[in-house]
Amino acid sequence: MAIVVVNPNPVFDRTIVVERLVPGTVMRTLEVEVTAGGKGVNVARALRALQVPATFIAPVGRDDGQRYERLLAEEGADVEAFDVSGFVRIASIYRESTSDRVTVVNDAGHLLPEAEWDAFVEFAADRVQSKDLVLVMGSLPAGLPADAAARLVRACHARGARVILDTAPTWLASAMSAHPDLVAPNIHEAHAAVTSSATSVFDDSTVDDARARAQAMELADRCAEKTTRMVCVTAGSAGVAFSSGDERGWIDAPSVDVVSAVGAGDSFVAGLAARWHHDMESGRDVDWPAAVGFGVACASTSCEVVRAGGVERSRALHIAAEMGVAEVEAVGAR
Ligand SMILES: Nc1ncnc2c1ncn2[C@@H]1O[C@H](COP(=O)(O)OP(=O)(O)OP(=O)(O)O)[C@@H](O)[C@H]1O
Ligand SMILES: [Mg+2]
Repeated sequence: MAIVVVNPNPVFDRTIVVERLVPGTVMRTLEVEVTAGGKGVNVARALRALQVPATFIAPVGRDDGQRYERLLAEEGADVEAFDVSGFVRIASIYRESTSDRVTVVNDAGHLLPEAEWDAFVEFAADRVQSKDLVLVMGSLPAGLPADAAARLVRACHARGARVILDTAPTWLASAMSAHPDLVAPNIHEAHAAVTSSATSVFDDSTVDDARARAQAMELADRCAEKTTRMVCVTAGSAGVAFSSGDERGWIDAPSVDVVSAVGAGDSFVAGLAARWHHDMESGRDVDWPAAVGFGVACASTSCEVVRAGGVERSRALHIAAEMGVAEVEAVGAR
């Protein structure tokens, strides 16, 4: 009954600090930091902070795969890399020292041949056992057909594992028919996945919390009709709607001093998975309000720090206790 984190589309996060970003000029950097990135990396980081063991699996481009693996190992991840052709894409994150402005440029990345993806799916499935909880996190490599995520979900299910899927709308929309045990899109992704539109109607700046809650609840119900399993739609500072059709609810996000909400959704998934895994190990059915509640507590604490997936266990337990979330002290306790 292990937790396995799958990061289908690795990336180097290159954080570049400049005084001010001026398009059309040549600039000097004040500081550059390169870290191994990807939503799976954030989740694995948060799980480690919660003291919940997890294996990390990724298809890693062989041109610079060693560096990627080294960076992950340095931060303590338990990595099993699958060697594929090409390079690891780069996300350039420009931070300006004279303001709070951050500009991100994401590489499209290497086009992964479909046969290599299928080989990776087999590699991942071989590492998954019955009753494992598999967390498939983030986008897929460029060039793959729309059902690529669905194939991974089915392969894990064939092993008897449960699957949490948090991926971009293109993959999510198609993978819902493979019945992932839980999907966790944000409100924009959920909308795009159910309407098959590339853009979202939601503008965060104009949607108040009450409206976000109603929209998220409706989207959770609509996604649940498609997956027939549990769906959590995260709605930023408002909270999270969850629905499996039969069981549904809403958890308010406690207000915190937000330093960075980047990766809050990944910390949410980590907390939820940790609590779910705890129920499975105790031989019980999952307590959804507690699992979603603990996810929200972890997301809150990660908003208080810069690093994505930067959860602090004692703080998460404190927030969860204040929220009245059941039985979280035992999560991750060794
Ligand atoms: N400003 C905020 N204040 C308090 N909690 C927040 C805030 N932003 C996010 N959260 C918490 O994090 C959860 C996930 O946030 P959000 O809906 O923004 O996910 P996301 O877009 O998937 O994030 P990411 O992709 O960066 O991981 C929310 O449901 C909430 O619990
Ligand atoms: Mg997200």
